[in-house]
Amino acid sequence: MDDVVAGTSWADSPEIEARIDELLAQMSLEEKAEFVTGGWNFNYGFFSAGLDRLGIPNMQMADGPAGVRINRGDVHDGRATALPAPIALAATWDPEQAHEYGTVIGVECRATDHNVSLGPAVDIARVPVAGRTFESYGEDPVLTARIGVGVVQGVQAQGVQACAKHYALNNQEHERSSISSEVDERTTREIYLPSFEALIREGGVASMMASFNKVNGTFVCEHTELLHDILRDDLGFRGWIMSDFGANHSTAEAANAGLDNEQPGAGFWGGQLADAVRRGEVTEEALDTKIRNTLRPIIGLGQMENPVGISEFDEDAHHIAAQRIAEDSMVLLHNDGILPLREVRTVALIGPDVDADTARGGGSSMVKPTRVTSPLGGLTEALGSQVQVEIAYGTDPITPGAVLKGPDPIPSGFLTTPEGEPGLHAEYWTNTDFGGDPFTVRTDTQLDLNLGFFNFPGFNAHSGRYVPLPGELNGQISARWHTDLTPPVDGLYVLALSVLGEGRMWLDGELVLDSVSRPKDAAADASQPSPVGASVSESASEPGTEQATGYGYAYGAGQPETSGEPGAVSQYLHAVELSAGRSYRIVVEYKANDSSQGFELGAQVRLGWVAPPEVVAPSVVEAAALAARSDVAVVVVRTYESEGEDRPHLRLPNGQNELIREVLKANPRTVVVLMTGSPVAVNAWGGAPAALLQAWFPGQAQGGALGRVLTGAAEPGGRLPLTFPASLAQTPARDPLSYPGAKGRVTYTEGVLVGYRGFATEGLEPAYPFGHGLGYTRFEFEDLQIADSSEDEAVARVSCTIRNSGPREGSEVVQLYVGTLPTETITPSRQLAAFQKVRLAAGASQRVTLEIPRRAVSYYDVDRHGWTTPAGEVEMFLGASVSDVRLTGVIRVG
Ligand code: BGC
Repeated sequence: MDDVVAGTSWADSPEIEARIDELLAQMSLEEKAEFVTGGWNFNYGFFSAGLDRLGIPNMQMADGPAGVRINRGDVHDGRATALPAPIALAATWDPEQAHEYGTVIGVECRATDHNVSLGPAVDIARVPVAGRTFESYGEDPVLTARIGVGVVQGVQAQGVQACAKHYALNNQEHERSSISSEVDERTTREIYLPSFEALIREGGVASMMASFNKVNGTFVCEHTELLHDILRDDLGFRGWIMSDFGANHSTAEAANAGLDNEQPGAGFWGGQLADAVRRGEVTEEALDTKIRNTLRPIIGLGQMENPVGISEFDEDAHHIAAQRIAEDSMVLLHNDGILPLREVRTVALIGPDVDADTARGGGSSMVKPTRVTSPLGGLTEALGSQVQVEIAYGTDPITPGAVLKGPDPIPSGFLTTPEGEPGLHAEYWTNTDFGGDPFTVRTDTQLDLNLGFFNFPGFNAHSGRYVPLPGELNGQISARWHTDLTPPVDGLYVLALSVLGEGRMWLDGELVLDSVSRPKDAAADASQPSPVGASVSESASEPGTEQATGYGYAYGAGQPETSGEPGAVSQYLHAVELSAGRSYRIVVEYKANDSSQGFELGAQVRLGWVAPPEVVAPSVVEAAALAARSDVAVVVVRTYESEGEDRPHLRLPNGQNELIREVLKANPRTVVVLMTGSPVAVNAWGGAPAALLQAWFPGQAQGGALGRVLTGAAEPGGRLPLTFPASLAQTPARDPLSYPGAKGRVTYTEGVLVGYRGFATEGLEPAYPFGHGLGYTRFEFEDLQIADSSEDEAVARVSCTIRNSGPREGSEVVQLYVGTLPTETITPSRQLAAFQKVRLAAGASQRVTLEIPRRAVSYYDVDRHGWTTPAGEVEMFLGASVSDVRLTGVIRVG
């Protein structure tokens, strides 16, 4: 359809206000309370009921930020275009691609009966291990704002509301429902609010989602300053604020603080809100304001007259759009010249998901794709029939177990079931005491279980080869595993059981680990070895320690490693000398019976190990052998990332570092492709691969995009939207108070020095800097001109000529940073002020002009509670990343 409405015109229209008056006058108190309370049903999925008799449509909502997640299986078979992850979109540095991304979402929402799209997520990626980094647009507020505005405009031009989430300071998944983000006013204003502000002022975003967390001790849903004073009075938001799903904790407090709608159902609102109005705890005027906020964009976006419905959309065109965005998002981090691939006859394609499209983020943003291309399919097509592509998985499947703490799970290649299959014989009960016949009996490749939320239908982003357990096992359960462990070499092995609930392990009939007889607080004297078990602690200074121990863990007898928080996994260790080739019978019994466990926080248990360094899994040996006999090896590795929990470390999970190390040894002509939604440690492979490509979670067209990029049919057009640290010690995760927090509070001690701002100001050398990315051609930056300006909004115009001096067409992102400001107040030594992506044919050049907005040379003055632009000189840096500066100059700010 044509664009219905664009911009923010609905926010201040007397005609719309008059229509709202008319509608409000016809609503009873009960109707009003119902109208602002959400619901869930099988016809609509998430919704908030409208009022038929007044012609007000339901708000029918679909997640989210990576495409339309359809709740109803009967609509379009529940399928929509699975776009590349939002972080990939940000890596395009291209607002036009963002607009196209939003358009695909808007069109597909309309065609699948949804008039509200629960996205985009414009939270800032504060720590690299945060579980929803893949749903974000990275660590910079300017880039986040530009991409976010593009998406919102694309969505809303289709007459579908976008929802900016998760307001505010929702920057980690660890304890997401209770954590308090402790943050100062300046940091809030400079780093965490500008993206929301831009979505309101420039995008005209219709709705907002108030986050789960607290800010400085108060739940966001009850935070008058955030919801009312800042969002309404300062930022001028005129649409409606819904709670994140289950984030509301009160009736009158939240209603009076400024929340407009409770989701997903009447926890505290509905009839209780009507009663609160009757009791005078909430005024009817306040309730009317909520309805006004909701009706404004409904009317303004034409949703009364132009309702959504069920129709076809152009699957082919949208698949192609997904592929184009994926190609343009892939970041070539390093290339010794091996890419694009030329003159190869045999390719070893290695990795746990190479014949699937399943490297994607988990949780509510997951989309059931309309079609898929796997790396194998895409590479085979791009290379043509003359080239032989052989695959090896190299590791066991990647599953949500990967986000548990503790040593990696024992590879299935060392385990044999009593029936003689690789893995473990597993029995599962839906009760906690092994009562009656087991509900499920099967062979598990590894013991690495993370159920509950992570295993909700459509939330589990496991590898294609893994078969998830049935949903009936998502609550409190018991389980038993039998397996024979055959160690490949003589030596000292540390067997590790990570559990939430109760776990026991027998080795050849002897009980060696027991979380029950040795509870978390049992071992008072940590220096005395415990009769059963030992403790493990994960070093914060990975991956340096990782090189020392091979795994980044320190071992010793003593307390089990646990944060002591409810719902935290503990690790129990047993160090034992084992002989090569002998079989050891292992039996594990497990009960998911902790009081924190239920439908949402499910079974969490892993049987891991730390083996002697020379131990290499059989699947790795096989992959390395394939690499050795091939011209080139392409290793596609992935993380498990999901809403619900952060990653426990920067490492690739489940033996993938070892896989890369061995393949590199076998064939130095190895290309590593990272299918991850956030940075991983890239220095744990005993050397650098010939090329390293950051492909993110590239969506349903991932194979096609990867094949074209590796062979040079397309150029990798992406640039990093966040810094790749050399270690977590360079990030706020260096200190538990600043991440993941302690005693329910996470303190933003780094202040405004988030991401590259911190690296640049503190002089830290990352693995790869913000803005970095190579292409297949070269660009020159020439002829700098600076024109100071006295305009209110822009303080200078900076222009330069960009020339493609390389052999082929390509793109460059011209990035303009400003330096420290002329003030005593500490300001970052680099801040992105503006950028532009240019595409040029070989030999072509283009003049690029960028405006430096006043905001870029201002800081938030907490004494004045406002922005201050200090007068004086400010250095500016024009280049191809925050570190790759090509032209410098000085602007004068009056
Ligand atoms: C997520 C939101 C999502 C909502 C509905 C919540 O758990 O935080 O991002 O929109 O669920 O699925």
